[in-house]
Amino acid sequence: MGSNHYQTVIVTGASSGIGQGIAIAFGKQGANVVVNYYDDQEGAAFTLSEVVKGGGKGFIHQADVGKEQEVIEMFDKALREYKSIDVLINNAGIQKDSSFAEMTFDEWNKVIATNLSGQFLCAREAIKHFQEKEPGHAEGKAIGNIIFISSVHDIIPWAGHVNYASSKGAILMLMKSLALEMAPKKIRINGISPGAIATDINAEVWQDEEKKKELLKLIPYQRIGLPEDVAKVATWLASPDSDYITGTTIYVDGGMTLYPGFVDNG
Ligand code: BGC
Repeated sequence: MGSNHYQTVIVTGASSGIGQGIAIAFGKQGANVVVNYYDDQEGAAFTLSEVVKGGGKGFIHQADVGKEQEVIEMFDKALREYKSIDVLINNAGIQKDSSFAEMTFDEWNKVIATNLSGQFLCAREAIKHFQEKEPGHAEGKAIGNIIFISSVHDIIPWAGHVNYASSKGAILMLMKSLALEMAPKKIRINGISPGAIATDINAEVWQDEEKKKELLKLIPYQRIGLPEDVAKVATWLASPDSDYITGTTIYVDGGMTLYPGFVDNG
C-alpha cells in the first residue's frame, strides 16, 4: 500500500484502456476507487478486482456521464459510501469517426455529449462537493483535484475526426477556465493529453502491422504508449507532490506534439 494521499477517487470510463489503468494505479496507492462504466460491466468488474488486489477498495457504478441525473446519482452514491471525494479523473471518452460531409448530427452530438458535456457534468458535481469541504480541511495541500483526460488532439488537428478534436479542444479551455476560477479555493484542475496509447479505441491501428508502422512515424519516441504511462502521471498529478501545478496540461505522447515531420525535413 502506498502513501494514501487520496482516500477517494472517481474514475469515469474505467472499464477499459486509460481509465482502467488509472483506476488500478490508484488502487495500488490504497485509495477507494469508484469505477464508473457505461456498458462494459465485465471490464469494470475486472478493474475493481485489480484495484482490490493492489490494496484498494471501491465499487463499480454504471452511468452515462453525458446524462445529468446519472452523474448526480453517481456522486451521491460515492458520498454516501465514502463521505468525501478527493479526486475526479474525468476520463470517459469516445470516437465516432467520419469524413466531415458524411458526419451525422448524431455522431457529432454523441461525441460532444460524452467527451465534453460529460466532463462538465462530472466536474461540476465534484466542485460542488469540494466547495462544501471545510476550509483548511487539507492543510498544506489542495482540497480537491480534477484531472481532465483529453488528447493530443486538443492541439493537433485531426482530419476525419472533427467531432472528437472539437471536443478535446474545448476540454482545454474548460480545464483552464475552471482552474482559474478554483485556484483561490485551493482546488487544483489539470489536464493530461495522451498521444497514441494502445487501448480499444485505436486497436484497429496498433494491431495492424502496416498501420502501426505508419503510426510510429508520428511518434518520435518510437513506441506506442501504454495505459500505465498515463496512470503514473495521473497519480502524481493528483498528489501533493505536484501541489503547485494548476491549469496545466501534461502531454504524455512520446513527442507526438513535436511536429514529427520535422525530424529530417524543413
Ligand atoms: C485517439 C487515438 C489516437 C491518438 C493519437 C487519441 O486521442 O483516441 O485513437 O491514436 O489520439 O492520434
